[in-house]
Amino acid sequence: MVKGYEAKGMEKEVKWWQTAVVYQIYPRSFQDSDGDGIGDLRGIINRIDYLKLLGITAIWLSPVYKSPNDDNGYDISDYQDIMDEFGTMADMEELLAKANEASIKIVMDLVVNHTSDEHKWFIEAKKSRDNAYRDYYIWRDPVDGAEPNELGSIFSGSAWEFDEASGQYYLHLFSKRQPDLNWENEKVRREVYDMMNFWLDKGVGGFRMDVIDLIGKLPDQGITGNGPKLHEYLQEMNRETFGSHDVLTVGETWGATPEIAKQYSDPKRNELSMVFQFEHIGLDQQEGKDKWDLKPLDIAELKEVLVKWQTSLGDEGWNSLFWNNHDLPRIVSRWGNDRELREQCAKMFAILLHIMKGTPYIYQGEEIGMTNCPVTSIDEVEDIEAVNMYHDRLAKGYAVEDIIRSINAKGRDNARTPMQWDDSVNGGFTSGTPWLHVNPNYAEINVQRNLDNPDSIFYTYKRLIQLRKDNPIIVWGDFELIAHTVKEVFAYYRLYNGEKWLVAANMSEREHAFGVEEDADEILISNYNRSSIDIRQLTLQPYEAFAVKVRG
Ligand code: GLC
Repeated sequence: MVKGYEAKGMEKEVKWWQTAVVYQIYPRSFQDSDGDGIGDLRGIINRIDYLKLLGITAIWLSPVYKSPNDDNGYDISDYQDIMDEFGTMADMEELLAKANEASIKIVMDLVVNHTSDEHKWFIEAKKSRDNAYRDYYIWRDPVDGAEPNELGSIFSGSAWEFDEASGQYYLHLFSKRQPDLNWENEKVRREVYDMMNFWLDKGVGGFRMDVIDLIGKLPDQGITGNGPKLHEYLQEMNRETFGSHDVLTVGETWGATPEIAKQYSDPKRNELSMVFQFEHIGLDQQEGKDKWDLKPLDIAELKEVLVKWQTSLGDEGWNSLFWNNHDLPRIVSRWGNDRELREQCAKMFAILLHIMKGTPYIYQGEEIGMTNCPVTSIDEVEDIEAVNMYHDRLAKGYAVEDIIRSINAKGRDNARTPMQWDDSVNGGFTSGTPWLHVNPNYAEINVQRNLDNPDSIFYTYKRLIQLRKDNPIIVWGDFELIAHTVKEVFAYYRLYNGEKWLVAANMSEREHAFGVEEDADEILISNYNRSSIDIRQLTLQPYEAFAVKVRG
């Protein structure tokens, strides 16, 4: 029984992931241990103590499987083997064991919408139209000598690639080296389930399911996300694999609304624990355009979306909470201040999110306030999504400066520059040449400096994680927006068993007045180190945030 849970008299079972805080590792950029410039499993093993100090419960490990790295491991050529640069299966087993000793679970990335073109299934499938593996993928005849239809790849261009040898096109919703699996084929589903059971038998703590909302696609009808059989497949997957294990499953679902999220995460439906929803993430892009078409964030919209997700899932679903991951720009640079107010700003985003209802996810480096890393030319960009977009837009006549501006605002490399451990060469990430440039601000922004300073961003995260462990109100309490504030102030209550907490966050660089008709009993956390807070009337400083207990 989780502490405090019994008090509310609820009978349903508490899952470990409901009280957890998850830390995402992008292994390529976390810690190199052998000087080849690429992070590896041994590097992660060596940093388990750091993660234990932070207090997290689980690691979401971005893909570590064998891969030719067209999309940095999201193109898998063998699901049951480890990428050469990252180490061996023995290293992986050691990581599982070491994490287990530290009471940290390892959640694997499950990338089964597509494989690499170097996966043995695809190599076979390409051999001929009657190969036994042909139907593992999605092949179509040309129409009028061209692509079967207009479906576009998420990484620019057509989603269809012509295979000269067999005279047919295959589908790839991502790069042409990431052919889509045919989920309508029962054999494909069986292979995936067997592979998942292989990892479950090794003791993994669950799966983060890459673009899982695409597996029910009907490409001939132009349907990619949320296809008709999607939930049937997930229920089957649950039955055949993790349903009998106590694991966390989180689906990456770009198009989810609260109604859709309930379909995935209502415990009665036996699908997933939760999904990542991206409604807030899309708020700084132009309506109907793609992520590169920028528009300024409207804080009122951000509040509206986050509040909607806080209040609408109820008992029929579970939220995940995040600002960052390996696909998104760094939050302080994106919606805050990554210069003189960076520290306050990073802490504000942390306080605002970590006292909400749901399971929080921290992306590596977020806990020290890492920032975006702008480039001046496409030669500095590694990410296939940005590189493809660059060439696509250049051909369409866009100005180079505009394309680079989009890449600097939204490009995925922003989050993928190596972890900044200390002020030694390459931020302590590698003794060799890093695969991607280290952010030049590593001497100022690094783990060591954070650990040496009790007032650092790191210790704000650590305190928030501890507060969650100690206070069931954060996990189970009701959420209520304090609506009468100015737009820039995001304030809310959490309510549980007669207890009431108030969280206030100023999301702007300007001072704002704030007040409620109540008194504070105890300050739980404050990024301005206030020793007393008069919540009846105060002036919130730039990016100020705090949480207090409200007097009953
Ligand atoms: C997901 C991953 C992203 C990857 C894509 C294709 O969106 O998070 O990194 O490129 O799927 O696998």
